[in-house]
Amino acid sequence: MIIAPKTRGFICITAHPDGCAQNVKNQIDYIKSQPPLQGQKNVLVIGASTGFGLASRIASAFGANAATIGVYFEKPPALGRTASAGWYNTAAFEKRAHQEGLYAKSINGDAFSHEIKAKTIDLIKTDLGKIDLIIYSLASPVRTDPDSGERFKSTLKPIGDAYTNKTVDFHTGEVKSVTIEPATEEDITNTVKVMGGEDWYLWMNALLEADVLASNAKTVAYSYIGPKLTEPVYRKGTIGRAKDDLEATAFRINDLLQRIEGKGYVSVNKALVTQSSSAIPVIPLYIALLFKTMKEQELHEGCIEQIYRLYKDRLYLKEVPTDDQGRIRIDDWEMKNEVQQKVAQLWEKATTENLSEIGDLAGYSTDFFNLFGFNFDEIDYKADTNEMTDIPGLVD
Ligand code: NAI
Repeated sequence: MIIAPKTRGFICITAHPDGCAQNVKNQIDYIKSQPPLQGQKNVLVIGASTGFGLASRIASAFGANAATIGVYFEKPPALGRTASAGWYNTAAFEKRAHQEGLYAKSINGDAFSHEIKAKTIDLIKTDLGKIDLIIYSLASPVRTDPDSGERFKSTLKPIGDAYTNKTVDFHTGEVKSVTIEPATEEDITNTVKVMGGEDWYLWMNALLEADVLASNAKTVAYSYIGPKLTEPVYRKGTIGRAKDDLEATAFRINDLLQRIEGKGYVSVNKALVTQSSSAIPVIPLYIALLFKTMKEQELHEGCIEQIYRLYKDRLYLKEVPTDDQGRIRIDDWEMKNEVQQKVAQLWEKATTENLSEIGDLAGYSTDFFNLFGFNFDEIDYKADTNEMTDIPGLVD
């Protein structure tokens, strides 16, 4: 079928298999162009199909020759209907990994459930024995509690007062004011339930109990801080409470993993265009201004460059460098004074008329469509494409 982008609000409901493969190839090429990585051997990535999780899987496999198991929740294709992007990304990743003799298998299902945890543990036991790196990179708007069956929804709201600021509709370039009403107590609790550390802890506990963690195993979950500008909607909002909880969970996981001398870390990453971040009001305008500034200052990175730096310059050093709250920081370039001062100045000026000039609206849009396999020069989008792609390492 001929596949074109079909957007609905912040998401694109179609995805292009060849374009997604190109996206994966570009990330593999980047990793192969860098000095090899050392450290991880058998890696589990939870949230492995898009964004930071996909980059973590690619960097582990093609940088360190690691065996990888990916867990994700993606929609398979049906005749005449494309799969979700993460499906095609995983198909391309596993095909290439197998071509190069690397172990790569995956499980598609709800990572919050007991069932998927048990299935993953069985696979590790059968195929790998033990794992030494667990990346926790889930981003989800909902979570069903595995014991009570209750379904929780996360929100992206400020806490205390309503918050008004500028945002951009990145499809039209229109800069407009947005007001977000404050969260209720229930919104806060629910967001922590979905995006906080509870499920990460459950995973680590289940893996430890099943005796599939190698001694000195490491686990990393991803967090975000960002500037004052976005604080009300991010770090001091409902999602920020969830990130506080996630960060606190790293310490609980350290205690849990003591008997295998394992370690739990949170890595604070840079703001990037992913399916999740596109949905947060105000953030797309911040990212458009940030990208322009970081590209001008030659500091720009995407997910793959970020994760390469996480593995190379942080996680596998003898002493893992952290901030005073124990967090790994690979948002250091984003948070540089000269970057943040420039973005704050641009923020004051940004309007519909000048955004394409003072901000990287085009870069934002390209990154967004790239997530779904569109806007790659290498791909002929007029050509007939087979949407029925299989994932070679998918476990039934
Ligand atoms: P993403 O939306 O690209 O990836 C989310 C992943 O989670 C996908 O693999 C998806 O299949 C999987 N997933 C979602 N629900 C699932 C479920 N119920 N069961 C199994 N898999 C499920 O997200 P992104 O942006 O890469 O986020 C990953 C982490 O990085 C999040 O914790 C996010 O807060 C954090 N982060 C993101 C930043 C950004 O700017 N995008 C910046 C810093 C941190």
